[in-house]
Amino acid sequence: MRGINKSYAMGQERLLVLKDINLTVEKGEFLAILGPSGSGKSTLMNIIGCMDNFDSGEYILDGNAIQTMKDSQLTKIRNREIGFIFQRYQLIPSYNVLQNVMIPLIIRGYTRREAMPICRESLRSVGLDERRHHKPNELSGGQQQRVAIARALIGNPNILLADEPTGALDTATGSEVLELFQQLNEQGHTIIMITHDLNVASHAKRVVRIVDGQLFTQ
Ligand SMILES: Nc1ncnc2c1ncn2[C@@H]1O[C@H](COP(=O)(O)OP(=O)(O)OP(=O)(O)O)[C@@H](O)[C@H]1O
Ligand SMILES: [Mg+2]
Repeated sequence: MRGINKSYAMGQERLLVLKDINLTVEKGEFLAILGPSGSGKSTLMNIIGCMDNFDSGEYILDGNAIQTMKDSQLTKIRNREIGFIFQRYQLIPSYNVLQNVMIPLIIRGYTRREAMPICRESLRSVGLDERRHHKPNELSGGQQQRVAIARALIGNPNILLADEPTGALDTATGSEVLELFQQLNEQGHTIIMITHDLNVASHAKRVVRIVDGQLFTQ
C-alpha cells in the first residue's frame, strides 16, 4: 500500500479515517496491526480485504492493482486471495460445521462431493472433524472460532486476515487460537491480525501500530 487515504462523509464534512498509509507485507509474514478503538483498524482491514474502496493511493495485492479493479474482479480476488476471520466468527447458524466450511468452495463452483474431502481435511487440521455435524450453537466459542479458521483456510488463500480473532474468547481459548495461527504461519500462511491488545499482538512476528488513522511501521 502506498499513500492510502480513506474518508467517510459526515453531513457536509469529510472525516479522514486513514491518513497516507504505507505498508508492505511479504508472503509468509505474521503481522499484527495494533491500535486503540477508533484508530481505523477495521477500516484498514476492509481495504486490505478488498471489501471497501479508498479515496486515493495504490494497493497492489499479489500483482493486482486493486484501485483499478471492477467490483466483479474484486469479488474473485477476495475469494481466491483472502481468508477472513472475524471477532464474532460469523458462522451461519442454520448450517452445520461442514456446511459452513464448504461455503468458499461452493462459491468457486465446486460440487459438494468435490468439496467434502477438502473440508474434512481442513476441519482435521483444526481438530474439529468429529464435530462436523454440529450447529454453531452446539460448539464452544473457541471451537466456533476454529471452524471460522477452517473456513478461512479452505480455498488455500494467500492471506489470512483476522479482525480481533480472540476478542470474544477467554484468555486460555484465545491462546489456543493464537497457537494455531503460529502453526499456520510456520506452514507458510501469511497472516495479518488486527488487535487492540498488546499481548495478542506479541504473538506475531512483526507489529505495526495505528494511531488516529496513521500507521507507524518503525
Ligand atoms: N461508515 C462510517 N461512517 C463514518 N465514520 C465511520 C464509519 N466507519 C467508521 N467510522 C469512523 O472511523 C474511525 C475508525 O473506525 P474503525 O471501525 O476503523 O476503528 P477500529 O480501530 O476498528 O475500532 P474498534 O477497535 O473499536 O473496532 C472511527 O472514528 C469511526 O467513528
Ligand atoms: Mg474494529
